[in-house]
Amino acid sequence: MKIRKLNLAFAYGAGVAIAPGLIAHAQTSSTVAIAATPPMGWSSWNHFGEKVTAADVKAAADALVESGMRDAGYIYVNVDDGWQGTRDASGRIQPNSRFGDMKALSDYIHSKGLKLGIYSSPGAQTCTGFEGSLGHELQDAQTYGEWGVDYLKYDLCTLGGIIGTYGPKSKEIPYRDTLAQMQHAYELMHRALASVSRPIVYSFCQYGFGNSWRWAASDGANLWRTTGDIRDNYQRMINIGFSQNGLEKYAGPGHWNDPDMLEVGNGGMSHDEYLSHMSLWALLAAPLLAGNDLRTMSDDTRKILMNREVIEIDQDAAGIQAHRAWSEGTTEIWVKQLADGSSAVGLFNQADWMASVDVDFRRLGFPGKVYVRNVWTKDDLGSFAHEFSTLVPRHGVVLLEVRMASK
Ligand code: GLA
Repeated sequence: MKIRKLNLAFAYGAGVAIAPGLIAHAQTSSTVAIAATPPMGWSSWNHFGEKVTAADVKAAADALVESGMRDAGYIYVNVDDGWQGTRDASGRIQPNSRFGDMKALSDYIHSKGLKLGIYSSPGAQTCTGFEGSLGHELQDAQTYGEWGVDYLKYDLCTLGGIIGTYGPKSKEIPYRDTLAQMQHAYELMHRALASVSRPIVYSFCQYGFGNSWRWAASDGANLWRTTGDIRDNYQRMINIGFSQNGLEKYAGPGHWNDPDMLEVGNGGMSHDEYLSHMSLWALLAAPLLAGNDLRTMSDDTRKILMNREVIEIDQDAAGIQAHRAWSEGTTEIWVKQLADGSSAVGLFNQADWMASVDVDFRRLGFPGKVYVRNVWTKDDLGSFAHEFSTLVPRHGVVLLEVRMASK
C-alpha cells in the first residue's frame, strides 16, 4: 500500500454566514416548517427506475418501518417516474396498471406513519415518456391533494426541449426567455399546490439550469436539484458532491440545495466510497433519500444509512451547509458548523491509495484546544492542542466532530 504524507494548511476558517435577504419571499412559516431540516426518505428511482410498482413501494414502506429507518427520520416514500397512466375524459390523471389505486397506496403509507411523495413534470411528458402536467397543473395538484400526497418532485424533462433549456433550440422562443419560462412553469405549480389544503413539500428538478439556487426558493421550492443525475459510481458521486462548494449561502431551513438522491447500497461503490457519499451528503445538509432496495439491504448498508450521529449532522437545526475549507491534490476538507457550536469536519481522500492527512485546527477556526471524535468509529480521540493526523482510506473519509475544549 502506498502511503502519501500530506501537510495541510487551511485556506480559511469555518465561519460561513447565510447572506441576509436570501430567505425566499415565497416561503411562509408553514412552507419552512415542512422542510425545516433536509427531507429524508426513500425514492424509487435509483433502484427501480420507471418499472416501479405499487408492490415495490409498499415493500419499501414496510422495510422503512422494520429496519428502523422511519424512526431514524426517513419518512418520505417517494414514487418517482413511472406511476402515471393516461388522463380520463375530464383530464384527470390516472395511475397506470402497476399502481391501480393511488389513494389506497397513500392510505397504506400513512398507516405506517410515513408520507407519500409523487413525481411529475411541467412538460407534456416526463423524462421516460409518461404523462406530464403541462396544461393540467391545478387539476393535478388537486388530485394529489385528494390522494393525500405530501411531496412533489417536479422534473423539467420535455419542457426543457420546448423552452430551449438545453440550448437555444427553439426558433419560436428566444433563448433569453428560457429562464423566465422555466420559472413561470415552476411558479404555476407552486400556486396550484398552495391551493391544496394539505402541505406538500415542493422539490424542483431541473438539474441546476439557470442557477436555480438563486431563484428556486422564491418560486416556492423547498429543495432544488443543483446538478445532473447521480450515478452509482464514485467519480460521479464525488464530483457532484464537491461541486456544491459556494452554494452554501443559498441553503437553510425550508430551502435546500439538492445534489440528488443517495446511491448507498446499490452495489456500484465500495464500503469506503459509500461512507464518503453519506458523509458528504450529511455535511452538505442534503436531502437524504435512500435509493436502494430496502428489502435486501445488507447490514453494512443499514449501518451507513442509519448512523445516528451522521444523520444528526445532516439534520442539524442550524441548517448550515458545509463548505470546502481546504483542498490539495486529491485531499479535500469540508467543514459544517453545527447549532451547538461544534463542527463536523470531513477529511476526504480521492486518491487510489491511503493518505495520511495532517490537520491544523487553528486554521479551521478553533483557536485553542479541541476535543475530537471520530463519528463513524464512535471513538473519542481526546483533546488536541491544534495538530491532528490520521490515515484516510482510498476514496474514503474520516468524519470528525470537533468542539472547543472548555477552559
Ligand atoms: C430525471 C431526474 C431523475 C429521475 C428521472 C426520471 O433524470 O433527474 O432523478 O427522476 O428523470 O425519469
